[in-house]
This record gives sequence, C-alpha cells and structure tokens, in this order.
Amino acid sequence: MQNQISVVVLDKNENSREIIKSFLNDIDYVSSVRLYADYEKGLEAVKEANCTVIADISGESDEIAKIADEIKLHTSKLIITSSDYSTNTIIRALRLGAKEFLPKPVLKEDLLRVLSMLANITDEEDDTQSKIITVYSNKGGIGKTTIALNLAEELAKTTKSRTALIDLNLQLGDISTFLNLNPAFDVNYVIKKLINNDEKNLLRFFEKYKDSSLYILSDPSYIEQSESITPRQIELLFAALKKIFPYIIVDMSANIDANSLKILDCSDWILFTTIVNIPAIRNAQRCLNLFRSRKYPKDKVKLIINRYMDNEEIKIDDIENTLSEKVYWRIPNNYFTIMEAINKGVCVSEVNAGSNIANSFRDFASKVSDDIIEQAVTKYRY
Ligand SMILES: Nc1ncnc2c1ncn2[C@@H]1O[C@H](COP(=O)(O)OP(=O)(O)OP(=O)(O)O)[C@@H](O)[C@H]1O
Ligand SMILES: [Mg+2]
Repeated sequence: MQNQISVVVLDKNENSREIIKSFLNDIDYVSSVRLYADYEKGLEAVKEANCTVIADISGESDEIAKIADEIKLHTSKLIITSSDYSTNTIIRALRLGAKEFLPKPVLKEDLLRVLSMLANITDEEDDTQSKIITVYSNKGGIGKTTIALNLAEELAKTTKSRTALIDLNLQLGDISTFLNLNPAFDVNYVIKKLINNDEKNLLRFFEKYKDSSLYILSDPSYIEQSESITPRQIELLFAALKKIFPYIIVDMSANIDANSLKILDCSDWILFTTIVNIPAIRNAQRCLNLFRSRKYPKDKVKLIINRYMDNEEIKIDDIENTLSEKVYWRIPNNYFTIMEAINKGVCVSEVNAGSNIANSFRDFASKVSDDIIEQAVTKYRY
C-alpha cells in the first residue's frame, strides 16, 4: 500500500498547473494538491506540511533559486520540470536539490512513476543519491584528516545538504582533536545501536558543527572498543548513514586490514592521496595496484596530491605517467594556515578564508559536488 502524500505544485503556467492537477487528482494516494504561480507563497505551503514539491524552472525566471535552500530544509522530495531539457538545465535542477527531473509536457506515466517512487521512501530511508567519499593513503601523516575535514566543511557549505564526517581511523582518530570537539557519542556507540536494530534518530548521536549542515561522528573513545568493530558492522553503519546523509566523508587509518578493505570496498569514491616525493609515490603505486586487483569501477579512485608546491622537482606529468592515473586535485602546501586552524580547533576557511589553501578546499568541494551531479545526470536521457 502506498503512503498518502500531499503535493505542492509551483508553476507560472496556468495550463501546465491544471494538467498536473488533473493527473494528481486521479492518483488515490495523493491526499491534497495545492497549486501556486507565486513561488514565495508556495514556499509557505511547503513549510506547513511534509509534502512532495513539483516546481517548474522553464524560462528565464529564477524564482526557484531563491527558495530552493528553504525547500530542502522542509522536504527532500523535489521534482523539477522544464520545457528545456538540455544537460545544463538538468544539472541546474539537480543542483537545486531535485530528486527527479521531468521534461515538459509532463507525461502522466512519468509523473506516476516518480511520485510512486518518492512516496515509498521517507526522508529517513532515502539512500538513492548518497555518496561515501573516503580520503585514503597507505602512508601515515599524508594529510588524510586535514583533507577529510576541510572538504567536508566546504561540501556542507556549498551544497547546503547534510554532510557527515566520520572518523574511521578507529584507533588513532584525530577529527575531534582537530576540531576541538568533546563528543558525547562515537562510532562504537552508533554501531551498538545498529546491532540492536535501533536505527531511529541516529542524527542525535552526531556532533553538529556550528550552525552548518556538517555532522561529525568521532572514533571510539577507547582503543579496546575499536578492536571489537568488524567489517560486517562497518557495512551496517554505512547502510544506515546512506539513508540520512547525501554526502558521507570518511577519514581512516593508513593500515590495510579487513576493516580498511571493507571501508574502501564500500566507498563510492576513494580520494587517494599522496605527496610529491619518491617514497610516497612508490607506496602510492603499490596501493593503486591493490585497487586495480580489487576491480574497482573506473572513476572510483581519484588521485589527490597534497602539499603541492609550484617549484616541485617532480612534475605532475611525471606523477601521472608513473602512476598511470590522472591527478584529480592538488592541494597547496600551507603549513602555517593549517597549523593555525588545528591549534584553534577550526577549519582553514575560518582562520584565513582568502588563503591559497582555503580557496583550494572551496574549489575542490565545488568540483566534487559538480562531478557527483554530472554522474547523476547520465540517468536522464531525453
Ligand atoms: N596541505 C598541507 N600543507 C601543509 N601542511 C599540511 C598539509 N596537509 C597536511 N599538513 C600537515 O601534515 C600533518 C599531517 O596531517 P594529517 O594529520 O591530516 O595526516 P593524516 O594522513 O591524517 O595522518 P595519520 O596517518 O596520522 O592519520 C599535519 O601536521 C598537518 O598540519
Ligand atoms: Mg589522520
């Protein structure tokens, strides 16, 4: 049986509003339909009740952009329609937070399909577009924690979507130290809840970072607690997190053991990080061979260069040739700003937003979110 849903339609065109209304009136699980030409007024209706929103973005008007972030706060069920269905428009729709895109004129069977799909998932169960992005290096001290937390903070800012930062460096996690947190709960606690089939309100066990949409889960408080965590439990944790967070950024240790392999296998993306020196690149080569032997899909592993300096003796081309891998992003060396951030327990953007490293993390987060959206666009082929 379908859950009952109410629908708010935002569309400037009266004819389209009426057509969509007539389709919705024929659907038995749609309990109410409200139509608006004025998007700001429609937003008030969205705030009142948990609903599905169908918003049109045809034409020049950019009214939806003004209210998209607010819609996201109240529902994740946003369907965007447009008479222009070029790739750019679809990217724009997904960036605005659309769960589905429908070309205009909207066909009844398409509307039925996406509504029924969205009706059957609650916001708490929506893992359709969630991505696990793990920052990894098989060498210690390369900058995994620095990258994971600054990227997560920028992603939360850029996308305004719920972003999790999970410390799976189970024995030597640093995130709570780097961000000066004293969390009441940790990974071990959440895993225990999941083992007992208690998946409700998991969000309350995360530390919300200031007033952003970044939520942090720290490593276990005691080393012996980390020893009891198994690969199966990591799988359980990821499955539960995917239902709550569109973006999950994972920090982990350099070790390769059963838990690490499980984390890497479960990740959608691995931001495989190295620095520019011969021992680090040799190590990177060995690790990339391991990834190849595990037959990870193309594009799962993205090569990141940390602490990059323009006058490096080893050039980017040399690294790419040696590793047979394109460099996805490079982060400049800026020890001073990073140390100041760690000492103050904040992200680099908070100590010096105009620094080369803060700019790099901001652009990095935009690229990650753009590339994730572009991957999602491939499902729409009109
Ligand atoms: N881009 C950078 N520029 C300058 N210093 C950096 C940069 N990235 C990281 N560092 C410094 O390198 C050190 C190690 O960084 P970090 O703790 O993030 O590495 P890690 O890979 O998480 O280490 P571990 O394996 O111990 O968990 C820190 O002191 C950090 O300040
Ligand atoms: Mg670390």
